[in-house]
Amino acid sequence: MAPYTLAEFAIPAGQRLISLAQNESLRAPSPRVARAISNHVSQLAQYPDPEWKELRKALSQLHDIDQQSILCGVGSMEIIQCIAHAWLDASATVVTTQYAYAFINTVARYTDANIEHVEEDAFTVSIDNIIAAADENTTMVFLANPGNPTGTRIPRAEIRRLRNNIDPDTLLVIDEAYAEFSDQCDDYLFDLTGSTQTVILRTFSKAYGLAGLRVGWGAFEASIAEQVRKLLNPNNISLLSQVAATACVQDQAYMLETCRQTAYLRDALINNVKGVGLEPPASQTNFVLLPFESAEAASRVDAQLRQQGMVMRSMAGYRLPHCLRLTIVNQRDMDFVQENLLSAIAEEC
Ligand SMILES: Cc1ncc(COP(=O)(O)O)c(C=O)c1O
Repeated sequence: MAPYTLAEFAIPAGQRLISLAQNESLRAPSPRVARAISNHVSQLAQYPDPEWKELRKALSQLHDIDQQSILCGVGSMEIIQCIAHAWLDASATVVTTQYAYAFINTVARYTDANIEHVEEDAFTVSIDNIIAAADENTTMVFLANPGNPTGTRIPRAEIRRLRNNIDPDTLLVIDEAYAEFSDQCDDYLFDLTGSTQTVILRTFSKAYGLAGLRVGWGAFEASIAEQVRKLLNPNNISLLSQVAATACVQDQAYMLETCRQTAYLRDALINNVKGVGLEPPASQTNFVLLPFESAEAASRVDAQLRQQGMVMRSMAGYRLPHCLRLTIVNQRDMDFVQENLLSAIAEEC
């Protein structure tokens, strides 16, 4: 069974690596993180809080949700993995989107579940198509909103419509790893987790800039939380990771500024590549999907940037071999990336 593949970072010796492949934040986390970590070093002889109390309290205040409905994981990947172990087996069916986040394919594979990829509409999730595909035998509907690798987003009202039109027993998992980049667009969905078989997942790896510390969380309906909790490692999140994530929640201004800088640089990139003939989908995230004329053109541009240390993500694994995915990085690196990218694209035209 093929494992989940991470980015390939080989670059010529002597080049400085600019990673454009993993959708990490363009800047370090809030300065409060370093202070909070140094204040807790003296406690490192102890195990972490298995109930993540401070972190849950901060999240519940921020999002106005019940602390009991929150579970935290070693990245949202740990939570996705536990949900898969609890719900999926060879008799299960997962309905997901055409360009679904690749990790759902991995967990479906290792649980032997059947997986159905439902056609999107110009790189955008089609709720009508998902409703048509899901039936009473569907175990789980999984979708990322905004999507990875497309970057596109559908209004949360559409997710409510989906919930209302699929079987009440079907587990609906909405992965909102990139939601902070577009939260202001409309209402939250956390209320759905109180009354329906719905899970909303979030992460500290993107807008909060904590990918290195591995913290994710989700809001769950009580009976689902109970099952998933049994499968999480009881001491899963390190003490320093909990403290750091809590400090991030308490500095919303910093996170929002990260999102603002990201959106500014992202929209400039989108305009510039449109200027040389590419048509990327409208991204609401910290990355942009770049569709080229052919797989060969994409791989030539990829190789050219890699020669100079810039590593984008090949999309062949998403059945999009003619596309590359590019993470938005800080202004200085972005200027260098754009200069090289635009000239590589121009050579293709
Ligand atoms: C849609 C989506 N969900 C989940 C994750 C994993 O996040 P975490 O770092 O919290 O495990 C990613 C990471 O790229 C992602 O793109």
